[in-house]
Amino acid sequence: DSRDPTSLRTPIVAVLGHVDHGKTSLLDKIRGSAVIEGEAGAITQHIGATAVPLDIVSSIAGDLVDPDDFDLPGLLFIDTPGHHSFTTLRSRGGALADIAILVVDVNDGFQPQTLEALDILRRSETPFIVAANKIDTVPGWDETEDSPINATYESQTDRVQGRLDEQLYEIIGNLSDEGFSADLYWRVQNFQRNVGVVPVSAMTGEGVPDLLAVMMGLSQRYMKEEMEIDVTGPGVGTVLEVKEEKGFGKTIDIVLYDGTIKADDQIVVGGQNDPIVTDVRALLQPRPLAEIRTESRFEKVDEVSAAAGIKVAAPDLGDAMAGAPVRVVCDRDLEDVVREVEAE
Ligand code: GTP
Ligand code: MG
Repeated sequence: DSRDPTSLRTPIVAVLGHVDHGKTSLLDKIRGSAVIEGEAGAITQHIGATAVPLDIVSSIAGDLVDPDDFDLPGLLFIDTPGHHSFTTLRSRGGALADIAILVVDVNDGFQPQTLEALDILRRSETPFIVAANKIDTVPGWDETEDSPINATYESQTDRVQGRLDEQLYEIIGNLSDEGFSADLYWRVQNFQRNVGVVPVSAMTGEGVPDLLAVMMGLSQRYMKEEMEIDVTGPGVGTVLEVKEEKGFGKTIDIVLYDGTIKADDQIVVGGQNDPIVTDVRALLQPRPLAEIRTESRFEKVDEVSAAAGIKVAAPDLGDAMAGAPVRVVCDRDLEDVVREVEAE
């Protein structure tokens, strides 16, 4: 048993925003891979999940995050599509989130799906920050790879600084029009009352240390109570995708957002007609930093605790649906669990 029963729940961070504003690129920068190159027309069409361990967060954030200050295992990032036709996937991603990053292209500003994402966050009362992305496209920008924002900002000319300031204040104004009091993140005292805006470039990595530091701070400060919930209870999750996996038949990729799932558990999964009652055959875990959608090398594990992205192999999953609930039965009455799944 590798799991520490007192361990805290990993916070789920949803990444939302308008099409092409740089959500997947930002996650690519964090995981140091290139999922975007594997996407059809470079447009995200599914919800993804990537676990980023605390040591990686702190190595990217450098001086801005001291790992000793945090007792979180890391962050589970959920990538969502920005294309207008994927409203359901966006609200599903938003609903899973403990906290969120709203990505806004500084040139393009607020767009229809930016507003839609804001509505989702408002309705679900999810704390969020804004990543003002693509700062490297400000004309005359002098880039410093992976630099914290203040250092790279100070090294720009007055004209470039002024141009970026204008774009940032436009975003702050747009947020205010939508009823969110916002400011540049280093001026925000209370992230629950005010939305912090973090200037970043997914391309050059500038500002990404700040973004991770703010996310860790947000998680630690405002999610603590919730994350101290016992993750040893029966697992609860949502299906991201139903997929054929060589040697396993139909499998489901799920985000486990509460409790624990074990390799011999009985589970109930929402199906196209009736809930599916089945027994787990294998739990397949993507490597840390791997995007579950594109991962090809999974590790078989005995159990997993929330929050995590995990592939579940089990018989009879042919009728399972993306977005459907998954629940571990454990020592509860099967009929009760089936009713819970039907009611979701
Ligand atoms: P959807 O998933 O379709 O909603 O798009 P997305 O928000 O995930 O955007 P994606 O990461 O696919 O990026 C869209 C385009 O913007 C790509 O061509 C990226 O290379 C480019 N891009 C993303 N971030 C930056 C950035 O910080 N600077 C520059 N110059 N280009 C960027
Ligand atoms: Mg994308």
